[in-house]
Amino acid sequence: MDLGEYWNEVYDARGSEVSWFEASPVISLELVGRFSPSRRGCIDVGSGTSDLIRMLAEDGWEDLTALDVSPRALALLRSNLGSYADVVTLIVSDIRDFAPPRQYTVWHDRAVFHFLVDETDRHRYATRVASSLAPGGIAVIGGFSPDGPKQCSGLEVHRASSKDIGAAMGDAFEVIFEMTSTHETPQGIPQAFSWTVLVRRADDEIASVGL
Ligand SMILES: C[S@@+](CC[C@H](N)C(=O)[O-])C[C@H]1O[C@@H](n2cnc3c(N)ncnc32)[C@H](O)[C@@H]1O
Repeated sequence: MDLGEYWNEVYDARGSEVSWFEASPVISLELVGRFSPSRRGCIDVGSGTSDLIRMLAEDGWEDLTALDVSPRALALLRSNLGSYADVVTLIVSDIRDFAPPRQYTVWHDRAVFHFLVDETDRHRYATRVASSLAPGGIAVIGGFSPDGPKQCSGLEVHRASSKDIGAAMGDAFEVIFEMTSTHETPQGIPQAFSWTVLVRRADDEIASVGL
């Protein structure tokens, strides 16, 4: 399956009328605002058409990036960015193949990690996050929890608790916050989410973690 084409078709068919739509990304804004060591350098992976990046820009954040495997999602996002379109970097990439061109302060992922149903892919993902974040940078990761839906957009998902997410990310990170939430889809269906916030350790700290 061509993943980019799959998601292009989802967006062509549904635009922003999608089950994961939220009028405002309240939890993401709260966690990023509360735990980020600075107000610049955020990458939102699997951004879709989320308003997170636009709202951070409105709040004065600088150096913002959105990444998605679907060019169509990023085209829609771009049009929603309005006057911020020229200052936000858009990257088309499968997250599993992302070769970060630099280091970021914040890695944000709402409902993308949960598509990685193979353990090898989750491991690959963790190594991408580790190389994308500067030491002290944070990862905010949210996805369907063990009592959440088994599928999203016709794809199977890996349901995980906050602890599962933390464990999958490995020794390069320290878990600093965990929570659960319920997302209500536009059709009124509740979906259980787990959230984990992690800090990227410095390389010399990682070496001592397993001792
Ligand atoms: C459920 S949506 C969530 C969108 C957004 N994060 C939000 O909260 O509104 C998942 C998004 O991840 C993208 N996606 C799925 N698998 C991906 C992958 N392997 N690499 C990058 N993006 C991916 C899809 O194109 C889609 O936009």
